[in-house]
Amino acid sequence: MKEDVYILAIESSCDETAAAVVKNGREVLSNVISSQIDIHTLYGGVVPEIASRKHTERINQVIEQALEEAGMTLEEMTAIAVTYGPGLVGALLVGVAEAKAIAFATGKPLVGVHHIEGHIAANFIEHPELEPPFLCLVVSGGHTHLVRVKDYGVFEILGRTRDDAAGEAFDKVARAIGLGYPGGPKIDRKAKEGNPLAITFPRAKVADNAYDFSFSGLKSAVLNYLNHAKMMGEEVNDADLAASFQHAVVEVLVSHAMEGVKEYGADKLAIAGGVASNTALRARLEEECQKRGVAFYRPSPILCTDNAAMIGAAAYYEYEKGVRHGWDLNAIPNLKLGER
Ligand code: KG4
Ligand code: ZN
Repeated sequence: MKEDVYILAIESSCDETAAAVVKNGREVLSNVISSQIDIHTLYGGVVPEIASRKHTERINQVIEQALEEAGMTLEEMTAIAVTYGPGLVGALLVGVAEAKAIAFATGKPLVGVHHIEGHIAANFIEHPELEPPFLCLVVSGGHTHLVRVKDYGVFEILGRTRDDAAGEAFDKVARAIGLGYPGGPKIDRKAKEGNPLAITFPRAKVADNAYDFSFSGLKSAVLNYLNHAKMMGEEVNDADLAASFQHAVVEVLVSHAMEGVKEYGADKLAIAGGVASNTALRARLEEECQKRGVAFYRPSPILCTDNAAMIGAAAYYEYEKGVRHGWDLNAIPNLKLGER
């Protein structure tokens, strides 16, 4: 019988210090997340230097807690996994240095993981039946990708954003209407009180690749709308504005995903990343997938935002393929999906 694989996974690419223990890629034994949101909220966004310092302060405790909650020791781990890109270089470095130190001291193999591969793998945790190939819409604070997951760790990017990521657009619009950081969940909540058809915002088309996204024009349209109303002395209905903006983003994401489903004859669609928590996006995709007889997979919100369980899930498949990193593993802030 095959031996069980236990992975201690570490994630520190942005503003969450996280560690998890994952068994055989799909069973989460612990998933500890120490969020720094409170501190960064004071500045209206993530301050890289503060993020690195907080990771350094918290990482040991987060790892100890992950092992304790799993009821396991470091010696019982099969491998140590860590996000090594993309992300904030100083933040990534804290996790990478920690993982290397633990792997070296215990003599365990080290597996570096791509952050987005982790987000995609979050889908494996709660859906034991999900296996590649499938299509995945990755929507986070830094990325907006439509990806064909051809096999474990094998990706073809069909489309990507040319400018802002979807989450970034949510954060910027939220700031403009005074909702604060992080904007996504706040717009999501506000939009529930508003009319999504109250204001028509543009849906950007990118000429040479129908799968690419562009959100900066939409963000500017919202800012122009606000400025115009201010100049005219008109009151803006924040709920209608939030709902209409969200509607514009969701419609573009859904239409691109459905084009992909059609062109590639996909029978499975998954979503991943922080914006995958968005209730309107989840509802619309559910609806469109149902119409087409496509199985729709989405992680629970806690597994959509940055966490280490998803890194442990992705690492398992890399480990099984024989991927091992050396002591020269470095943080790569702009690491491309599918690169090693
Ligand atoms: O994946 P994630 O936690 O971090 C990155 O890797 O970027 O994504 C964070 C992003 C933020 O921009 C946040 O505003 C957005 O996800 N987000 C949401 C929602 N929850 C988080 N956007 C829209 N609706 C939500 N409910
Ligand atoms: Zn992320």
